[in-house]
Amino acid sequence: MARDSNVYVCQECGASVAKWSGRCDACGGWNTLTEEAKPEATPKGLGARRGRKVEFVGLEGTTARQPRRITGIEEFDRVTGGGLVPGSAILVGGDPGIGKSTLLLQVAAALANKSGDDAGVAYISGEESIDQLRLRAERLDLTKAPVRLATATSVRDIAASLGGTGGPDVVVIDSIQTMFVDTLESVPGTVSQVRASAQELIRLAKRRGFCLFLVGHVTKEGVIAGPRVLEHMVDTVLYFEGERSHQFRILRSVKNRYGPTDEIGVFEMTGGGLSQVPNPSALFLADREEDATGAAVFAGMEGTRPVLVEIQALVAPSPLGTPRRAVVGWDQARLSMVLAVLEARSGLALAGSDVYLNIAGGLRITEPAADLAVAAAVVSSVSGVPVPGETVIFGEIGLAGEVRAVGLGDARLKEAKKLGFTNALVPGSRAKEAADMGMDIGGIRHVADLLNLFDASANEVRKTETRQYSMNPRPPKKAQNGKKAQNG
Ligand code: TYD
Ligand code: MG
Repeated sequence: MARDSNVYVCQECGASVAKWSGRCDACGGWNTLTEEAKPEATPKGLGARRGRKVEFVGLEGTTARQPRRITGIEEFDRVTGGGLVPGSAILVGGDPGIGKSTLLLQVAAALANKSGDDAGVAYISGEESIDQLRLRAERLDLTKAPVRLATATSVRDIAASLGGTGGPDVVVIDSIQTMFVDTLESVPGTVSQVRASAQELIRLAKRRGFCLFLVGHVTKEGVIAGPRVLEHMVDTVLYFEGERSHQFRILRSVKNRYGPTDEIGVFEMTGGGLSQVPNPSALFLADREEDATGAAVFAGMEGTRPVLVEIQALVAPSPLGTPRRAVVGWDQARLSMVLAVLEARSGLALAGSDVYLNIAGGLRITEPAADLAVAAAVVSSVSGVPVPGETVIFGEIGLAGEVRAVGLGDARLKEAKKLGFTNALVPGSRAKEAADMGMDIGGIRHVADLLNLFDASANEVRKTETRQYSMNPRPPKKAQNGKKAQNG
């Protein structure tokens, strides 16, 4: 192959350039450019031949509405927006080993058991052998389900097998990165192969009206390798995520043409496959210490995805002239700012204390929306009073000590509610809007309000417990009471 007939295609975003470089100019990914055969020359106009006339119709009309297919796995059905739409394509993305194949085998079995006939559900694997698939089915106790198994990687073969009458009405392709179209020269897994294979399969699904699942592996950057270019081709994009150190897995819809996008389904990986978690807060709170001081749950957003994380702070008297400020998972400068604002605007004495801040679970947060949760964790550690139970916190803190509104408050609260939280501390200006979320919302306008919150409960706690660290009495009591009266 002549060199100049090739282009370099970014495996992350699909951008193509003529010259190789270490970094993709389009998405900024490092080492993502791979040499691929240049696609056919771009088509030259339409020529003289006239096309057929397209028929226009009104918005109103009778549509043959096929019922959605319900799996009976509630956590899954919720994420798909109430069942599978015939002819739709669903991309299921996730890290390797997170449990995508397990989930889809369970979904396939559930659908097959429901439909009751042999035609229903096909599971095509390009990664595992029939024996391996059967072993998994045995482990999941699903061997009796009438799922049709096959191993294949050629899209041409798959298309031929799914044709004709009596074809399946649900097809699982595990994974799209192993599929290839034999008219392309590039190897399976490259952007052009992934794109072409998906295009063929999706076209087939629309034509035959079967529901298509495509499994896509995610790279460490959090983007489905290649499949980022698939996101716009499919109807629904689901991410299956979770931490290796934890048992729970979250299925999240980030795009859905037939349902809401901020729904999540929670599962637990057990020895016998994935089991649903009807009450996720129990699982989520399992690792947290109840009533621990210095811990606050932050309702954050990771891109378009809401994520709840625990922020832990420890404030201890420092033996050093320059107290230590150690941060894991957050911005050190941002912590200094929050501490300075707490000190200057609410009179909390921190100058002689070491402050340690940790984002539990190894997550790295970049949002300023975490300010208020960090402040709450710090105040909680200083006052020895835990943050009120079942409470999530978010809000940005300004230099004057004011708490500013942040974006996507609804999504944060929705996630918190889904995970079982009943209370929220939000920026004061948003408290009214948030009130109809069905949660107990506390509006915080100024960091001094935050202190009042802990001071008030501290008075009750103080009767039974001795507090390790006391708050600096500098803030004038009058002003605090005045504020409280306003809020109450
Ligand atoms: P798998 O579905 O193969 O992941 P993916 O398809 O996303 O790569 O899941 C593999 C992991 O799940 C593996 O580490 C073992 C674990 N697992 C269980 O814990 N219990 C089970 O019943 C099964 C089938 C897998
Ligand atoms: Mg797999």
